[in-house]
Amino acid sequence: MAYLIGIDIGTSSTKALLCTDEGRVVASAVLEYGVDNPQPLWSEQDPERWWAATVDTVKAVMDYAKIPGTEIGGIGLTGQMHGAVFMDADNNVLRPAILWNDQRTATECVEITEKAGGRDKLIGMVSNPALTGFTAPKILWVRKNEPEIYARVRKVLLPKDYIRFRMTGQFATDVSDASGTLLLDVKNRRWSDEMLQKLEIDRSLLPDCFESTVVSGKVTEEAAAEMGIAVGVPVVGGGGDQAAGAVGNGIVRPGVISATLGTSGVVFAFADTPAIDPQGRAHTFCHAAPGKWHVMGVMLSAGGSLQWFRNNLGEMEREQASRMKIDAYEILCEEAEDADPGCEGLVFLPYLTGERTPHANPNARGAWIGLTTRHGRAHMIRSIMEGVTFGMKDSLQIMRELGIPIGDIRCSGGGARSEFWLSVQADVYESPVCTINATDGPAFGAALLAGVGTGAWSSVEEACDSTINVISRTEPNEANYEIYRKSYAMFRKLYNSLREDFDIITSLAK
Ligand code: XUL
Repeated sequence: MAYLIGIDIGTSSTKALLCTDEGRVVASAVLEYGVDNPQPLWSEQDPERWWAATVDTVKAVMDYAKIPGTEIGGIGLTGQMHGAVFMDADNNVLRPAILWNDQRTATECVEITEKAGGRDKLIGMVSNPALTGFTAPKILWVRKNEPEIYARVRKVLLPKDYIRFRMTGQFATDVSDASGTLLLDVKNRRWSDEMLQKLEIDRSLLPDCFESTVVSGKVTEEAAAEMGIAVGVPVVGGGGDQAAGAVGNGIVRPGVISATLGTSGVVFAFADTPAIDPQGRAHTFCHAAPGKWHVMGVMLSAGGSLQWFRNNLGEMEREQASRMKIDAYEILCEEAEDADPGCEGLVFLPYLTGERTPHANPNARGAWIGLTTRHGRAHMIRSIMEGVTFGMKDSLQIMRELGIPIGDIRCSGGGARSEFWLSVQADVYESPVCTINATDGPAFGAALLAGVGTGAWSSVEEACDSTINVISRTEPNEANYEIYRKSYAMFRKLYNSLREDFDIITSLAK
C-alpha cells in the first residue's frame, strides 16, 4: 500500500495529513504560528516559519504512522491563497511574505484597474476585479514603496509554492491558486501576457503554471532528509486552500455547493464553464479539478464574528466551558436557541474586518442595529449567527443570478459542528443542508490531488466519489422562511444605508 501526504500552509497553522491511497486518514499534525501586523492594515509572515512547520508536521505524521519514508507515493500542497513571497537570484527571501488579508494596496488596486483600461476590461482579461488581498497589487506596492528590494526580485511565489520550492527546487504553481493573483487568464488557464504587459511585470518573475493534479517536481535529497521521507517522491500542483478544500468536500459536480464557516465564510460552487459575475462580487477561479472552474463568495469575518464575541464578551461562557471541559461555542449555540428567529428585530452586520463578497469594501464595519431593553445575550449571539448566515446567502444569491445550479449544499467548518447553526443555515438558504464524513478540508483535498496525480485514482471526481459521503441532512423549517426573508431584506438595506458612514467611521479610527 502506498500512502499520500497533503500539506496545508494555513494562515494560523500548517497541517500535514497522511492517508492511504484509498483515502483513509491515518495521521494528521498541526503546528500553529502567528501573523505579524507591523503597521495597521499590514499582515505578514516569514516563509521560513512555514517551512519549519512543514518539516515538523510531516515528521510528526511519519513518526505516528511508523511507516518507512519509501511508502509515500505522492505529496499534495495547498495553502492560504494570494500571498506574495519575493525571492532574489540566489533564492533568498527578500522581505516577509505579504498575506491575503493584508489591506495596504487600495491605491494599487485603483492603478491596476486604470492600467487595464477600466473594471470591465480587467474582468474581461482575468475574470476578476482588483481586490486588496490579491497578489498583483502586492507586487506593485513593493515596486513603488521598496524599489531597492524590487530591483533584486527574480521570483514571486504563492505561499504553498514557496514550500514546493523548498521541497523540490522547482518554481511552479497550479491554476487554482494562480487564479487569485489577478495575473492569470482564468478562462484559458494560463498566465495573461496581456495583463503582465499592462502592469509591466516580467513573465520570468512568475513560476510555471500547471493543472492541480500534474506532478510538478520531486522531493530533493536535502528536503527528504529533513522531512524523513524518501528522495524523489512526486509533488503535484495542488491547489489554493479553497479549491483543495472543495475537493476535500467533494465539490466536483454541477449543483454541489459548499458553505464553509471558519474564520472566514466561503460559498463555493462548481462550474463547468468560467461563469463570471459581471459586477465582480464573487470570484471566478480555476478549479483544482482539471478543466473546471468555480465561483466563490468570501466573507472575511464569519465564524470570526462569533469568535470575536467569545473572546471579548463571552467570559461567562468561556468559564462555564472550562468547568464543564467542553467547547465555549457549544454553550454559545445553546444560549442562542433561547432567542426566536429574527431576534425580535435585532440585526447584526458581520463586517468586523471589512468585507469582500458582495461588497468588496475594506471600510465596512460590524454593527448591531435594533437593540432594545428586551434584548439579552441570547439575542445578541443568535443575531451574530443569523447575520453571518445572511452574508453567506448574499453569495448564494449571486450564484443563483449567474444561473449556477444549487442542489446539494454541503456545510463544513466550525459552523457545521452545531446542529443549531445548521438549522439556521437551512432556514435562511431555504434549502436542505448536509454534512459529510471528511472533515480535513484542504489537507485532505491536497492528498486526493496527489493520489490522482500518481495514479491512485483516475480522476478527481473518482477520488471524491470513493472517499466522501453525505452523513447528515438538515431539512429547512418553512415556518421560519417569512421572518428570515424580512430580516434578510433589512440586513441588506442596512448595509446600503450605512455605506457612506462606514467611510467616515473608518477615517475617525485612524
Ligand atoms: C480565498 C482567500 C482565503 C485565503 C486564506 O480567496 O482569500 O481563503 O486563501 O485562507
